[in-house]
Amino acid sequence: MSQLVMELDTREALITRIREVANGMEAFGPDFDPDVRIADPRHGDYQANGVLAWAKQKRQNPRLMAQQLVEGIQRHFDGKRVPWGKLEIAGPGFINFEMDSRWLLDWLLYFGCSDHLETAAKSIVGGRKIVVDFSSPNTAKQMHVGHIRSTVIGDVICRILEFCGASVIRDNHIGDWGTQFGILIMILKRNQVDLDSIAGDPIAVLEDLYRKGSALTQVDPSALDEARAELVKLQGGDSENLKIWRAIVDISYGEFIKIYDRLDVRFDHVLGESFYRDQVERVCSELEEDGIASESQGALVVFHPEHPRFATQPFIIRKSDGASNYATTDLATALYRHEHFAADEVINVTDARQKDHFEQLELTVRKWFEKRGRKLPVMKHVTFGTILGPDGKAIKTRSGENVKLRELLDEACERARAITAQKNPELSGAELDAISTSIGIASVRYADLSQNRSSDYQFDWDKMLSFEGNTAPYLLYVSARIHGILRKSGGVWTEPGRAANRREMSLETPTEVALAKRLMQVVVVLKQTLEDLRPHYLGAYLYDLCADFNAFYHNDVVLHEDSNVRELRMHLCASTLSILKRGLGLLGIPVLERM
Ligand code: ARG
Repeated sequence: MSQLVMELDTREALITRIREVANGMEAFGPDFDPDVRIADPRHGDYQANGVLAWAKQKRQNPRLMAQQLVEGIQRHFDGKRVPWGKLEIAGPGFINFEMDSRWLLDWLLYFGCSDHLETAAKSIVGGRKIVVDFSSPNTAKQMHVGHIRSTVIGDVICRILEFCGASVIRDNHIGDWGTQFGILIMILKRNQVDLDSIAGDPIAVLEDLYRKGSALTQVDPSALDEARAELVKLQGGDSENLKIWRAIVDISYGEFIKIYDRLDVRFDHVLGESFYRDQVERVCSELEEDGIASESQGALVVFHPEHPRFATQPFIIRKSDGASNYATTDLATALYRHEHFAADEVINVTDARQKDHFEQLELTVRKWFEKRGRKLPVMKHVTFGTILGPDGKAIKTRSGENVKLRELLDEACERARAITAQKNPELSGAELDAISTSIGIASVRYADLSQNRSSDYQFDWDKMLSFEGNTAPYLLYVSARIHGILRKSGGVWTEPGRAANRREMSLETPTEVALAKRLMQVVVVLKQTLEDLRPHYLGAYLYDLCADFNAFYHNDVVLHEDSNVRELRMHLCASTLSILKRGLGLLGIPVLERM
């Protein structure tokens, strides 16, 4: 039997066909946009709204025009295989489409649990080269709870982009060239600390020294002068200070890596602020030459006269003492990403407080690149809100300090262990460890990813570790349950060719149909998630998928006596697992076969 090749995106498939017909009709033509959307399920599966706007523009009766288009479509596709089973005109001139159940089933058999989905999804973004700048903590400090956001949101954006065919460059733009080094070098020298032989936890020692040094500079002007002098020496290339700086950065990054490993996050590059230190001169002189930057009170600044705020709020690219700053290194970074990566797009993931910075950066880069004839990449700033404690304020420890990410992950795993051991007393030590670590990390990741990133959210252990609601344990539990169902059936359900008797299969019950339609929606959801760069769309979809699966499983006997019914239902189970697994994988959460 020749294999049927399916179109991945049914909405696109509809649009293509409507256009094909409209094209050849005098009343419509190639400029007609059918504007096809997912419909309210009470009215159909898709609806085309485009006739309304079109008729208004042509001063025609929309209902009559819709009638004309529908008749054209029916004539053109008479007897051919199409995505819709029924189409009808509604209201003033909408066209409602109901899915053809054969098309739906063919889609499911083709994409449901095979590699075809993976292959076809590559065309969604195509080979666009996209730099994603995420996580990017500052060195000499441990990562704290707030860093989870940039780290996991950025990571998931990379995973989804890659799945959809982008060529992704993951860049960790660490803060490794700031004033903190002046203070640290001053205090390290004063206390004669040798970084090669620190007793105890080096990062904790560094943090403690920094706290002491910083306090000292506030009460002792000579210490402050010394810190400044050490920073100037470092930035001037003094070899001793560079050596200390390198050691501090290495200790910090060693700590970061441990967290990245636990969260299963990786980078292609770690090009921090220091990497661009030799480029800042070029940036400043080009911008001055191009008339984009100018002197103001001794500093070099950029104003944007066309902008309501940035006409007077300067973007400072060189301070009055001659030092470069965050803006300068970010401009140099933009240049590097153009020259070395030829990036089509750059995505920066940081908290919302950096909105102004990235807006000013984009405005400046746009003018600068235009002047120099460089191709401007699409620049997107992905922002997020704050994680709150039980008191509704930014989360802190009882003593008012930042919550260390390392300790938070430890606690998540411990709590998950207690819960898992209670639910599954028969689990052995090693298995219990593996499962509870997996649940603990997944819970922290998912608690963040399931929130609309623009909002603040309250950190709540009980909620994130609950087996009910839109949580990681619930989604993992459903996937483990489907694994169990497939194990019990003893079949191999991942081959699309398995459905050789597809002609005898059909989607019958409302719960089968609802689940199949939900599975098909995965394509739209991936596209929407990428459009807004909001991972919680995917999370919400997986949660709905689980609900549809549960409804199906309760209503329809899977191991049915009729082998065609059984095959279809097994295929629905396998497809649900496959898409759940892929979806969770894109959220950086590996599924568990048992729990
Ligand atoms: N290090 C910065 C921070 O901790 C984030 C850097 C983001 N990336 C960038 N290119 N500015 O807030």
